[in-house]
Formats: sequence, structure tokens, C-alpha cells
Amino acid sequence: MASHAIITWNASLSCGVTDIDEDHKKLVSMINRLGGAVLSADPQEVLQEILRELVQYVVFHFDREEEYMQEYDYPRFEQHQAQHRQLLDQAQEFVELLGSRPTQELWQQLGDTLRAWLVVHIEGEDHELGAFLVNQGLS
Ligand SMILES: [Fe+2]
Ligand SMILES: [Fe+2]
Repeated sequence: MASHAIITWNASLSCGVTDIDEDHKKLVSMINRLGGAVLSADPQEVLQEILRELVQYVVFHFDREEEYMQEYDYPRFEQHQAQHRQLLDQAQEFVELLGSRPTQELWQQLGDTLRAWLVVHIEGEDHELGAFLVNQGLS
């Protein structure tokens, strides 16, 4: 099954808050980089290193959003944080599986999961958060 290796950044992904949008652009580019490396069957060490950096940046980014939510007393904090935790749990499962059984198929599955999740999460919870923060005067 062919997978879409690339997410193209477009206006529908923008949340209206610069810090958050910049993080999302960076995440999109990291996921695209991973997708490209998987497609060209780069060595496992290279893939593992990109994945490690990606997970690290995801943790950093989720913290940033959660700090905004707490600072501005965001009413959907718990639902939003729950989605973040779910993604991190899922990513952790992939990290463990890829550590012991690094197949091309599993790498592709990881890429597909990350891409689908990112777009759904940004267009859902992150947009709601962005609209709320813009309303609070952030940009
Ligand atoms: Fe989020
Ligand atoms: Fe986000």
C-alpha cells in the first residue's frame, strides 16, 4: 500500500499563534524528513536518530501548548492534554517495537500514524486552543 510521505503546510493548518504554528511547521518538516528517509530505505541508525529528535520535539511542543493552557486557564485543558498523552503512548509503543523489530512496514506505519494524527490534532484541538488564545490577545 502506497503511503503519502509528505504533508504540505497550508493555511488550514494555521492556528493563529506564531509560536504554535512555528512548532507545527517544524514537526511537519521532521515527519516529512522521516517519511523520506523511510522511503529511501536509509540505515536504521539514521531512522532511529530522526525518530529520537522528533519525539523530543513533540514533547517540547506539547509542554509549550500545555503551559499556555495553564497560564490562560484554558477550559479544555484536560481533553487536550489527554490527546497529547495518547499520542506519546502510541509513539512509545512504536519506539519499542522498532527497537526490536525494525521492518520497513513498521516504519511506514509509524509515518502514516504520525501524519494522520498530526493533521487531525492540529485541525481539531490545536485550532480550538489557537482561537481561544487569539481571543485572549495572543498572536
Ligand atoms: Fe496540541
Ligand atoms: Fe500542537
